[in-house]
Amino acid sequence: MAEDPRLPLVLIGPMGAGKSRIGQRVAADWGVPFVDTDQRIVDRHGPIERIFADHGEPRFRELEREVVAEAFREHAVVSLGGGAVLDPATQADLADLPVVWLRVSPEAVASRLVGGTRPLLASGGLAEWRRIATEREPIYAALADLDIDTSRRSVARIVADITERFGGTR
Ligand code: S3P
Repeated sequence: MAEDPRLPLVLIGPMGAGKSRIGQRVAADWGVPFVDTDQRIVDRHGPIERIFADHGEPRFRELEREVVAEAFREHAVVSLGGGAVLDPATQADLADLPVVWLRVSPEAVASRLVGGTRPLLASGGLAEWRRIATEREPIYAALADLDIDTSRRSVARIVADITERFGGTR
């Protein structure tokens, strides 16, 4: 089968932007596999909050880089954890791949974060989310081919935006 030039399509953006939900829908619409790098880390190494608690963030980032590098070799829609773009090798890889940046406002993300288990937000909550999202914004902006604000847009519309930009079912 000929290679699909749309793949891997990579979704980046801050925690709670909808990367997993939307990635899954795009993959289903296109009839291609979906990889959620956080989920793959959990499948192999256990819950993310445990990895942070037992081994610290640097170890999590190492495991994350391994899974991300592997996912980039797959013909799939790939959703990255919010901080995966901090890795210089991942940044270099993303320069050559189609990348969608999913954005979200603090107002819209607040309800999505409630009851979550994300270790980076365990003590700082929404204020910490805002700080991290702002700090990483220039990285997301530099890597993205398309950016979409998910705050008030339906999943169906977002999937349509992505399909319009990168091409539909082949
Ligand atoms: C993180 C985001 C999380 C997860 C981990 C660290 C981050 O993924 O990888 O908790 O540094 O922003 P989501 O963006 O899917 O929440």
